[in-house]
Amino acid sequence: MAELSVQIGSLRLKNPVLVASGTFGYGKESAELVNLNALGGIITKSISLQPRAGNPPPRIVELPAGMLNSIGLQNVGVEAFVKEKLPFLNSLDTAVIVNIAGSSAEEFRAVVQRLENEEGIDAYELNFSCPNVKEGGLEFSQDARVTARVTALVRAATKRPLIVKLTPNVTKISEVAKAAKESNADAVSLINTLVGLAVDIHSRRARINTITGGYSGPAIKPVALAKVYEVAQNVDIPIIGIGGIMNGEDALEFIITGACAVQVGSANFIDPAAGEKIVGEIAQYCEKHRISSIKELVGSLRGEV
Ligand SMILES: Cc1cc2nc3c(=O)[nH]c(=O)nc-3n(C[C@H](O)[C@H](O)[C@H](O)COP(=O)(O)O)c2cc1C
Repeated sequence: MAELSVQIGSLRLKNPVLVASGTFGYGKESAELVNLNALGGIITKSISLQPRAGNPPPRIVELPAGMLNSIGLQNVGVEAFVKEKLPFLNSLDTAVIVNIAGSSAEEFRAVVQRLENEEGIDAYELNFSCPNVKEGGLEFSQDARVTARVTALVRAATKRPLIVKLTPNVTKISEVAKAAKESNADAVSLINTLVGLAVDIHSRRARINTITGGYSGPAIKPVALAKVYEVAQNVDIPIIGIGGIMNGEDALEFIITGACAVQVGSANFIDPAAGEKIVGEIAQYCEKHRISSIKELVGSLRGEV
């Protein structure tokens, strides 16, 4: 058996497959369908300081090669998360990564401060695709300086591993990843959803309530791989790859491109056991290709075609 464990700063994952924020609830929802302990880790739905109701429906539409959503960060808020959701996550033998949402720098810090005294949290992932209210709704990670500032603010509030999750809706994602590194993030995760639009030609209305939404699924994989490649070539920081991963081959594409771990998102809506299956498929690949440790594959993309 190949060694599948990976180390990201002080965060140890038993294997490189995580489930992505917003696609797996708080873990318990899938507990009867999936062996949760087979996963490298679970990333929670984004948690904000106060509960959020999210956007009105329709807020999810299935498209030929992906899906468009405008859930709008619906979540129970940090207090209820600690009381009602964290105890179950703590009972599992897998890494628990709490994804945090905020509409201001202070909100990110306040959520982390509330979680600091709680046990059983292995890392934080900052959802920097949230609209930054003070900057006119621009996503936090659309601006490298804002990314640097907010990462530094949260970094000062915790010693736990910090993953900064980046939006793909920028010209140069490596500049933003560099800003996260300079503020001492342990890793970057990419990509969050792309901005998308779908139109019903009969009613001539957008197919989701917010008009545009977040596009995810198989269609975005080549975009995500290109972003991972750009960061891997330009910034020396661990990368967690996300975007359209449906099976083991997709996950391996990200690892070979330079990701040390991956997240499985939209695939969970088709099969909640997708992550668990992907772990098995990666192990099989390693055996077939006589790879003794997954680390040998990370960034092993060859230059020539
Ligand atoms: C319905 C839905 C809800 C999501 N909610 C969140 C969220 O709360 N926080 C977050 O950081 N990302 C959220 N995402 C983004 C995913 O975590 C992931 O970055 C994105 O979907 C790309 O991966 P995929 O193509 O495998 O789905 C959500 C995605 C979907 C489809």
